[in-house]
Amino acid sequence: MTDENIIRNVDVKDDGILDNSIRPEVIDEYIGQTEVKENIKVFIKAAKMRGEALDHVLLYGPPGLGKTTLAYIIANEMGTNIKTASGPSIEKSGDLAAVLSSLEPGDVLFIDEIHRMPKFIEEILYPAMEDFTLDIIIGTDGNSRNIKIDLPPFTLVGATTRAGDLTSPLRDRFGIVSKLQFYTIEELTEIVKRTARVLETTIESDAAVELASRSRGTPRIANRLLKRVRDFALVEGNGVIDKKITALALDKLKVDKQGLDEVDRLLLSTIINKFNGGPVGVDALSSSIGEEVSTIEDVCEPYLLQSGYLKRTSRGRIVTELGYKVLGIPYKEK
Ligand SMILES: Nc1ncnc2c1ncn2[C@@H]1O[C@H](COP(=O)(O)OP(=O)(O)O)[C@@H](O)[C@H]1O
Ligand SMILES: [Mg+2]
Repeated sequence: MTDENIIRNVDVKDDGILDNSIRPEVIDEYIGQTEVKENIKVFIKAAKMRGEALDHVLLYGPPGLGKTTLAYIIANEMGTNIKTASGPSIEKSGDLAAVLSSLEPGDVLFIDEIHRMPKFIEEILYPAMEDFTLDIIIGTDGNSRNIKIDLPPFTLVGATTRAGDLTSPLRDRFGIVSKLQFYTIEELTEIVKRTARVLETTIESDAAVELASRSRGTPRIANRLLKRVRDFALVEGNGVIDKKITALALDKLKVDKQGLDEVDRLLLSTIINKFNGGPVGVDALSSSIGEEVSTIEDVCEPYLLQSGYLKRTSRGRIVTELGYKVLGIPYKEK
């Protein structure tokens, strides 16, 4: 595999070309994540003052919160190139060696879903990250030899939805580890307004707030809903997105007032109705609702936990009183 093959669009979950055009490109346009952003700004500035590559960065958090966007911004702010790969797509040591040896000084290598990288590939990364050397074995049994190649200083930016799945030797080699948080309604409102400007669409303020408050704290969802609402506004209105058309469109898209989607509601109602409110283990829940354990843990639960609808205990998940309330089901004290 050449590095042309491995350097591919890693964001299969995104909406494609439109998505790239709405990504902020400079750090000051990156809304929210204040703490992460301010720290990274300092580290970028310091690295530039010293004329060095930025230290390796690990970004973690649920999907759609801006990890890929931030990786591109880092390269842009450093004034370097970015090469991207995704953990599961690096299948052979040669794949990684090819990308690594194509790097120029200061470049960013972005590895998405870095927790899904095979273990033996990970081991090639250790010396590359630490000493900027590539240790590889070439040839086959009996006729193999070890070669050491010097690499230019580079910055590895890793993204993962599961920091816990990273091995500690890998995690320890990142000098900067940042956790992305769900966005507030105010931040999402700003993102929605910004995206509307990029898409050359008019959205009224209260409509932007409505949309933001129904986006599960997630910019990717906010942007996606905005595009759909924009369709409704065009076909069923006069093209301007007002609160009425927003509410209508979101109801049709089955996004409720709290921003919960169908899977969120199914998850909560299943725990309540089939497991008496919990506790229930994730495997039982997974087969009950027909979603993968990783989808439940990485996509659904973080928001439900953070919103206080769900609690994780040593015996399993339980729905909180607030969780009953959000579904309109009377709560029984246990
Ligand atoms: N802080 C932010 N400010 C503005 N837009 C954002 C921000 N974070 C994410 N987005 C938007 O949300 C979309 C999803 O972000 P992305 O970086 O792909 O998330 P992740 O890689 O964490 O899944 C992007 O297309 C981008 O336009
Ligand atoms: Mg991403």
